[in-house]
Amino acid sequence: MYDSGKILIGIIVFLILFTSPTWYDLVFGTPATKPNLVLPNKADQKECVMTTEYMRDNHMELLNIWRDDAVRKGDRIFTTASGKEFEMSLTKTCLNCHSNKAEFCDQCHNYLGVSPYCWDCHVDPKTVEIK
Ligand code: HEC
Ligand code: HEC
Ligand code: HEC
Repeated sequence: MYDSGKILIGIIVFLILFTSPTWYDLVFGTPATKPNLVLPNKADQKECVMTTEYMRDNHMELLNIWRDDAVRKGDRIFTTASGKEFEMSLTKTCLNCHSNKAEFCDQCHNYLGVSPYCWDCHVDPKTVEIK
């Protein structure tokens, strides 16, 4: 005769293994690749336009301020706390230092599922040939 106890255990083990991808994801969260930021490495590009902490949390606000100042007020010069001057420009300034959008901006945004629509109009210099 068959051992119904062993069959039952067999079925339970099978069900646990068979459904494991589902409960593994539920318990541990779906695995995702962590952002891997490539930072500027030129000597004169070692500091951002604001502190790193500020930038991490507020770069989107700062970009809005830059846009409004540049486009509405015609004021295009931004002076940092240490007295350095930058043109308020997404492509010419941010992407001058952070020259690889894919290895910087996109790293976080893809990870978080954010997709700024800015690139519908603004240029990512890496994707066009500038002569
Ligand atoms: C002069 C070069 C330079 C410019 C211009 C610049 N950055 Fe940065 N940025 C840096 C550097 C260097 C760091 C990393 C600083 C550090 O290691 O603490 C940084 C850090 C950051 C961070 C935080 C990254 C992190 O580690 O969390 C963000 C976000 C950021 N920048 C966005 C921008 C945006 C948006 C602009 C344009 C408004 C901009 N940056 C302009 C050089 C620059
Ligand atoms: C350290 C991670 C990180 C880096 C690096 C980063 N971002 Fe972001 N970005 C975020 C987060 C977080 C948000 C906010 C998402 C939210 O609030 O919904 C965001 C939002 C934005 C937004 C607003 C988008 C929206 O739809 O509201 C813009 C614009 C933006 N980032 C531009 C940039 C640019 C340009 C760069 C590269 C120069 C950059 N970011 C680099 C993390 C980052
Ligand atoms: C529908 C097209 C369009 C979209 C989308 C757009 N912009 Fe712009 N943006 C413009 C135009 C046009 C100007 C004016 C260019 C000038 O006067 O130099 C401008 C100017 C700016 C400026 C100042 C000048 C410069 O060279 O960068 C900033 C900063 C800026 N935009 C940021 C953003 C950000 C951040 C986003 C996404 C959240 C965004 N823009 C989305 C069209 C757009």
